[in-house]
Amino acid sequence: GSGKFFVGGNWKCNGTKDSISKLVSDLNSATLESDVDVVVSPPFVYLDQVKNSLTERIEIAAQNCWTGKGGAFTGEISVEQLKDLGCKWVVLGHSERRHIIGENDEFIGKKAAYALSQNLGVIACIGELLEEREAGKTFDVCFRQMKAFADAVPSWDNLVVAYEPVWAIGTGKVATPEQAQEVHVAVRDWLSKNVSAEVASKTRIIYGGSVNGGNCAELAKKEDIDGFLVGGASLKVLPCYSYGLCQ
Ligand code: G3H
Repeated sequence: GSGKFFVGGNWKCNGTKDSISKLVSDLNSATLESDVDVVVSPPFVYLDQVKNSLTERIEIAAQNCWTGKGGAFTGEISVEQLKDLGCKWVVLGHSERRHIIGENDEFIGKKAAYALSQNLGVIACIGELLEEREAGKTFDVCFRQMKAFADAVPSWDNLVVAYEPVWAIGTGKVATPEQAQEVHVAVRDWLSKNVSAEVASKTRIIYGGSVNGGNCAELAKKEDIDGFLVGGASLKVLPCYSYGLCQ
């Protein structure tokens, strides 16, 4: 693997002040292994609450950001505002934003470039739809999405790639460790050929899609799986949540 194991909990559009306060207190009392980066991604409206109550051991990610400096962009949230709240990361290119909201590669690349230019870390999501996998296009799709990031970003130092096959997200159909590893190796190889050998070896490539306490340990054994992006299971403190929880 590359670098420190990285586990993100993406809470998506879930939670209330009360449920989030309970989750934060469970996280604060959990024992975390020291060699794992743990990050949670609350909805925008709870970022401040979480930042003000969560242990400093766990960093905060936003689930989206605007493409540039703030201003007359009704309904958007700027990178500067996220940093003002103490966010260290932003999740970009998530399949729900690509396929439900309709964000395209270029728009996502712009956001990633701006976030990185302002020293906000980027969790850059890629992944194929079921029909793309069945048509043998998994690598084509992932490489196209990687190229959009590569064409836009100023540096890879503060970027984690999240491979999330869309058919595995929220479906309970986790990719097998072999299926995930196959794509992670291919993405690393793509980085080596198209960016640099150094970036390929240093960039963390994490897996997301129905990760839970029962399947995380097997996935984590694969050489090129450097962490997880957990959705549903991250709303409870389970070992998978942060694979770094000692339980
Ligand atoms: O960002 C997280 C992924 O979309 C995975 O979600 O663990 O609920 O399948 P899930």
